Amino acid sequence: MSGDVQLNILAIESSCDETAAAVIANGKIRSHALATQSVHKSYGGVVPELASRAHQQHMVSVVKSALDKATLALADLHAVAFTRGPGLLGGLLVGTSFAKSLAFARDIPLIGVNHMQAHVLSHFIEGPYPPLPFLCLTLSGGHTQLVWVKDYLDMQLLGETRDDAIGEAFDKIAQLMQMPYPGGPWIDHYARNGDPHRFTFPATSMPNLDFSFSGIKTAFRYFVREQEAQNPDFIAQHRDDLCASIQQTLINMVLEKLKSAVAQTGISAVGIAGGVAANTALRRCLTQWAQQLGWQVLIPQPAYCTDNAAMIALAAHHQYIQRDFCDMDVAPLPKMPV
Ligand code: KG4
Ligand code: ZN
Repeated sequence: MSGDVQLNILAIESSCDETAAAVIANGKIRSHALATQSVHKSYGGVVPELASRAHQQHMVSVVKSALDKATLALADLHAVAFTRGPGLLGGLLVGTSFAKSLAFARDIPLIGVNHMQAHVLSHFIEGPYPPLPFLCLTLSGGHTQLVWVKDYLDMQLLGETRDDAIGEAFDKIAQLMQMPYPGGPWIDHYARNGDPHRFTFPATSMPNLDFSFSGIKTAFRYFVREQEAQNPDFIAQHRDDLCASIQQTLINMVLEKLKSAVAQTGISAVGIAGGVAANTALRRCLTQWAQQLGWQVLIPQPAYCTDNAAMIALAAHHQYIQRDFCDMDVAPLPKMPV
């Protein structure tokens, strides 16, 4: 935007278990706020009905907090954006309805954002910014995608998971070791003191640039079950090494695919996004691989890897420039291609 034109957009994220809001002013994030739903912890995964209710409960206070931090009032907004999909329908309905009401009341444009595109655009929240095009591995609890990012809103899916998402694999493996949900950060934590070469697990290799994580999860389950038959305390005694070893296997699986994608496309600027991109060892390994292979590496700060509304706001800013607005009868899309 040019210097004297003001463009303030409020963005709302409610696709999974974080209720989040952010304000972007002329393409720069001015504030963001987030309420994490702790209600799912005891269930070992996100319970969609409880997630919808919690979004509904927290939405107003989270939006208010984002506006207050930005020192803006509703009257200062020029558009309102929401996550249209993919995600859990109940949560998406809460965000969509809230955004529609606000756009209707203020008579301002409504912008429906693709959550997966927004994860990729988290790279543009803070510099250094990636060059275009670049390759992005989007690694979340619901998706695993390898994306060719041609422009802010022009992305081509090169590969994706055929079964579980990588975050789901982290969470299910952590659950087998009795860790709370979400287990990814716990595996990350314990792995710091473990030996990544202590145990080996068979990495599943898919043809082309697709991924599969259900086999490794099953292999892990059988392995610990066999060991526990001989030693009931096996997991407790080997927790750190188990975490480090399974984590390293998962990391190698995605980085090998990235390497193939670089070879196939000739694009050597590479990034990671999504909740699993917050993983300490993945960030370190990607940096090491990049140094060895001559890649330019792009890693958003952890708070912008996990679900947040700043990335939704960034996408909304670019959609506003393209006049990519929604009608008032827009519906959320639980499944939505990147
Ligand atoms: O992108 P995200 O916040 O939500 C979805 O859109 O799914 O990703 C959540 C996923 C969960 O599976 C969580 O366990 C994983 O990201 N995650 C991690 C870490 N932080 C979050 N996995 C491994 N290491 C982490 N540090
Ligand atoms: Zn996400």
